[in-house]
Amino acid sequence: MVNNYRYETFVPLYITNHCDSQCKICNLRSQNKNVERKEGDKEQILSQLKIILEVEGISAVCFLTGEYKPGTKRVENLELILWCIEQAFMMGFQKVYFNIGSLSDSEVARISEKFNGDERIVLSLFQETYHRETYRKFFGYDDKENPKSDFNQRLSTPERWMQAGFKQVDIGVLLGLRDPEYDVKNLIEHAKVLSEMGARVHISLPRIRGVDKVPYDISDHEFKNIVADIAKALPEANIIVTTREDVEVLKELLKYAKIISPGSSDVLPYTKEGDIPNNLSTSQFQVAPIRKRPSWVLNSLELKGGSIRYYSV
Ligand code: SAH
Ligand code: TRP
Ligand code: SF4
Repeated sequence: MVNNYRYETFVPLYITNHCDSQCKICNLRSQNKNVERKEGDKEQILSQLKIILEVEGISAVCFLTGEYKPGTKRVENLELILWCIEQAFMMGFQKVYFNIGSLSDSEVARISEKFNGDERIVLSLFQETYHRETYRKFFGYDDKENPKSDFNQRLSTPERWMQAGFKQVDIGVLLGLRDPEYDVKNLIEHAKVLSEMGARVHISLPRIRGVDKVPYDISDHEFKNIVADIAKALPEANIIVTTREDVEVLKELLKYAKIISPGSSDVLPYTKEGDIPNNLSTSQFQVAPIRKRPSWVLNSLELKGGSIRYYSV
């Protein structure tokens, strides 16, 4: 039987909150002394995966970390991510995203050597802004101590990922840095290039949360229009919406979105029962100190039973 799911889902899993980069809008930036740094070990990661799969009933996951400057820590982080991906598939996950910053040629080659074009793996990497001046302002420029400041390495990673034989990419723009028009136009162009290379393209449109003053505030109304425009320009793209947005906004976006990703940007936050944490002192950004469980969010969208791929209650 062919099952034509209207939606898909995945849960984000931040395995550490350490980072060498210095992004102005992110809590995890290296100079932020207010963060209580913690890093999950393998046992903790496995128990989180078990909760996501068995308690939440969700069989797709996204592993996230900060980005490290070249050196031992960067190598170890990539190896840990490869281990996580392998374990997730062994446990029964069906689709795995990873969002760990840009990849050098040798890093792409290393992933290829291990997973050889595996079509279940999605490279998640958002350019944030395609506008170089704006990028420089928020993420730095040509700074060896700040790995994310390398705009070109970041921009070229999805194409190099495709050239290595992989099939799925998730690109995006961080809304709230500047007037979105230029970024939306460039994001659409980027998606088309990847699509012509044979990619299954996902589009992420995170809105900045948890900062005192968003540089360019985007209203719910404007946000909805952006999502609608992208859906129209890229009918084949898989638009991802996350619980950065509240359930009311999510419901309105359901018309355009293909993927709903509920979760928390706290480190290893999932629990066997009750609500989940999103602490200011350990999260990438806080939406609210305590959040509903992923399965609770999916259920509250009141979609018809069985319409979400990778989710079984
Ligand atoms: N360290 C990796 C993964 C970061 S988490 C990287 O930087 O690429 C994934 C995404 O979260 C980032 O790409 C960015 O688009 C988004 N993000 C960063 N700060 C945010 C904030 N304050 N609010 C909402 N999203 C944010
Ligand atoms: N920042 C990641 C993304 O947008 C992780 C993420 C997915 C996330 N779903 C989320 C973060 C829900 C917070 C809440 O892909
Ligand atoms: Fe680090 Fe990513 Fe946050 Fe930048 S956005 S500080 S690279 S975790």
